[in-house]
Amino acid sequence: MKPSTLIVAVGLAATAVGLSAGAGLAQGPSGVIAQRADLMRRQAGDLGVVHNYVLGKATKAKAEAAAADLTNTTRKIPTVFPEGSGGTSPGGKFGTFATKPEIWSDWQGFLAAQKNAVQKAFALEAVVKTGNKKKIGAAFADLLKNGCTGCHTKFREQIKK
Ligand code: HEC
Repeated sequence: MKPSTLIVAVGLAATAVGLSAGAGLAQGPSGVIAQRADLMRRQAGDLGVVHNYVLGKATKAKAEAAAADLTNTTRKIPTVFPEGSGGTSPGGKFGTFATKPEIWSDWQGFLAAQKNAVQKAFALEAVVKTGNKKKIGAAFADLLKNGCTGCHTKFREQIKK
């Protein structure tokens, strides 16, 4: 793929994954369901910042902070999926998502998908520090497609678009 093609592909994917970012949780359920929607949306926001840096629309310092945050949030994922907390998120104007029961029936598989995302976030964090935008684009795409979407296709259900 040419770098320009990659950026466009990544941009589209970032928009898709970022759609729910920022949607208000004010009237949503409190507790762990809201916490995990918050965490997930925050991750989408962080990816957006890194993406903007690649496009020249955000500073390197901001991208570094966002990438470091992604390493932390992906590490925290298991803490917002305690047993018995399955359910549908409050949803935003761009979609409503729910947990699949496989998260708990295949907890080891879920943890494997989570660790995979941590590794890819950590790799992105390292490459953002170098400022090499071609490599950042590749690490970004890898995290998004294989880390985030890798888990979503198995363990996340879309209730409403
Ligand atoms: C180990 C599994 C896993 C990983 C890794 C993961 N997610 Fe999720 N994500 C889920 C599940 C399950 C849901 C559905 C529950 C929910 O929406 O509250 C979800 C929901 C979401 C939502 C919708 C939140 C809402 O309810 O409005 C967004 C946005 C999201 N994830 C972004 C990301 C991004 C960006 C990454 C990668 C940096 C990521 N996720 C990594 C499991 C994962």
